[in-house]
Amino acid sequence: KDEPLVIGFETSCDETGVGIVRGETLLVDAIASSVDEHARFGGVVPEVASRAHLEAMVPTIERATRDAGVKLADIDAVAVTSGPGLAGALMVGVAAAKSLAVALGKPLYGVNHLASHVAVDIVEHGPLPEPTMAMLVSGGHSSLLLVPDVTHEITSLGATIDDAAGEAFDKVARVLGLPFPGGPHIDRAARDGNAVAIDFPRGLTTGRDVERHRFDFSFSGLKTAVSRWVQAREAAGEPVPVADVAASFQEAVTDVLTRKAIDACRSNGVENLQIGGGVAANSRLRAMAQERCDAAGITLRVPRPGLCTDNGAMVAALGAQMVLKGRDASPLDIPADSSMPV
Ligand code: KG4
Ligand code: ZN
Repeated sequence: KDEPLVIGFETSCDETGVGIVRGETLLVDAIASSVDEHARFGGVVPEVASRAHLEAMVPTIERATRDAGVKLADIDAVAVTSGPGLAGALMVGVAAAKSLAVALGKPLYGVNHLASHVAVDIVEHGPLPEPTMAMLVSGGHSSLLLVPDVTHEITSLGATIDDAAGEAFDKVARVLGLPFPGGPHIDRAARDGNAVAIDFPRGLTTGRDVERHRFDFSFSGLKTAVSRWVQAREAAGEPVPVADVAASFQEAVTDVLTRKAIDACRSNGVENLQIGGGVAANSRLRAMAQERCDAAGITLRVPRPGLCTDNGAMVAALGAQMVLKGRDASPLDIPADSSMPV
């Protein structure tokens, strides 16, 4: 009962998330999304996202506290994503968190969005092995992170040099005429497709750039290859086999992601891999990662899909770790840092 009760706000992109945890136990994960408002633009529109956060913030806090059966007065700490993300979107969450911290007279913890994608696995699967290798694959990031302790000194081993993995899913979905965000639609379409029908390129796995970019990713060449392949079909007046293209594209992405993640574990002597971010919801990625980790003797942890995409629980989870590990609270004048490094 003396475990800290922590509320976390996430507004870095298009999800308004409010999570509440007690220690390492998740009590509630309330979310409001503006994704439908962005769909017709084919991507997240920052101004639209900020306005949606402003409208959703307080109702989502109310829903979270009601569903968790807790009073705001009982909260021990307030955590918020302070970066990286969309500047105007972050500001809404940061302003709300500061206000609540001041009103309650409780500490504020500004946390890193990437680190919280890793921390959420603690409320799902228990304490994180230290060190853990984390692969974060979302609409905005594709990173390999060496995590000695989720509250402290995370090192980025590599990242995408062009598109993020989720961005590639979204762009390829568009080429195939599937709705935004495309990841779940490609995942579904791929189930009826042949993953070895088309041999799409695996970026930064061969050639002279490999050594310098061993733990980096590149997905823009793959996206272009898919787009050219589809255009050639259309130009020839032939039907596009959407399921096969989706499955073959998805296979190329997951092949590269899992290969590099396991290489990163091996070369750093790390026996635990955690995968997070929206793309970690992908069914093929989850299956392939499990197969390859089993073969390599690596323990894999992936949160349930709802905790892989952006949410408030991850922020509360990291905030609680900050409290439990005795980390310093943030000053009340912290900025929203849109390009915050991990
Ligand atoms: O983590 P997230 O919710 O937001 C960011 O921080 O970016 O990730 C969103 C991304 C989108 O690009 C979406 O298409 C992708 O995650 N995504 C998926 C799946 N579900 C969501 N990609 C592949 N397969 C999925 N099942
Ligand atoms: Zn995210």
